[in-house]
Amino acid sequence: MSRAATPRKSFGSDNHAGVHPEVLRAIAEANTGDAVAYGADPWTERATAELRRLFGTEGDVFFVLNGSGANVLGLGLLLRRHEAVICAESAHINMNECGSSERILGTKLLAVPAPDGKLTPDMIAGMLTGRGDDHRAQPGVVAITQSTELGTCYTAGELRKISEFCSASDLRLYIDGARLANAAAYCGCSLADMAGYADAVSFGGTKNGAMGAEALVVMRQDDAARVPYLRKQHMQLASKMRFLAAQFIALLTDDLWLRNASHANAMAARLAAGLAELPGVEVVHPVETDAVFARLSPQHIDALRREWMFHVWDEATSVVRWMTAFDTQPSDVDAFLESISAVTRFT
Ligand SMILES: Cc1ncc(COP(=O)(O)O)c(C=O)c1O
Repeated sequence: MSRAATPRKSFGSDNHAGVHPEVLRAIAEANTGDAVAYGADPWTERATAELRRLFGTEGDVFFVLNGSGANVLGLGLLLRRHEAVICAESAHINMNECGSSERILGTKLLAVPAPDGKLTPDMIAGMLTGRGDDHRAQPGVVAITQSTELGTCYTAGELRKISEFCSASDLRLYIDGARLANAAAYCGCSLADMAGYADAVSFGGTKNGAMGAEALVVMRQDDAARVPYLRKQHMQLASKMRFLAAQFIALLTDDLWLRNASHANAMAARLAAGLAELPGVEVVHPVETDAVFARLSPQHIDALRREWMFHVWDEATSVVRWMTAFDTQPSDVDAFLESISAVTRFT
């Protein structure tokens, strides 16, 4: 795969990677003749049927153009007009979507500081104190991210506890699954296992080898019946839907989605193992999926960034995020480790 855009492999994000060749091939194969628009085509029929089965949903599956759109659509589906969303402070919907849920849905995000990016029933319970007070936004939805923005995963037990708490507390559960594949690869659990705890879940393709395709999986039929209208209102109804569906067909063929995610995770694990040998670099979150968060001195960060692309996650604490992708090679990781070792050797 060409690396023309950056001289070296980027560790900036899993969506710095290009498109998996099988996905490109599937798009090209779908580019034969005409097909009815807006999802009434055989590719969409096949991909949604396969995803319905994989997620074990009685509801339905809806393709959308991007992860933020999936989140706004999913949250908008589950929320009533006076309701708020409880989420982790680090949640993408809170930090990185330009306030779109608040702007577009008119909701309020009730963000909770969450070490390792994970909510617990106790943290959720702490946000319910204003219930019944008509001066306060009423929590209606809990939004969690799997895997989290900090690269960690909820275990099946943790998901079950949150789900039970939500059911008992009249809260609906939404999962931002932009990296659900990486979580499945780490936990060894099925997509249906994880989705079964939620009311709606997004399933990311873009960070896992697609060119740009995400799915919203809605678990109940009565919810699913409203999605087509909301998807159109949120401008997430693609007219040439077959090309979104074709990307998922490629990802689902021979479990490419799982192979890609497992590979990305393995590359992050390789990076973390190499870092363990290096004094001067502290890994600050458990490395469970495709992200490594590390603390090193600001001078070392500057020196490394002259050669490598990655993001400083938190300047105040000198923490960086290094991400791998489906196409990261062991040699990319080793070369990066060599550079890290070279700059941190001299303090
Ligand atoms: C956890 C999470 N959710 C949602 C998104 C949104 O995806 P998009 O950039 O396609 O809108 C991202 C993208 O970085 C993400 O990391």
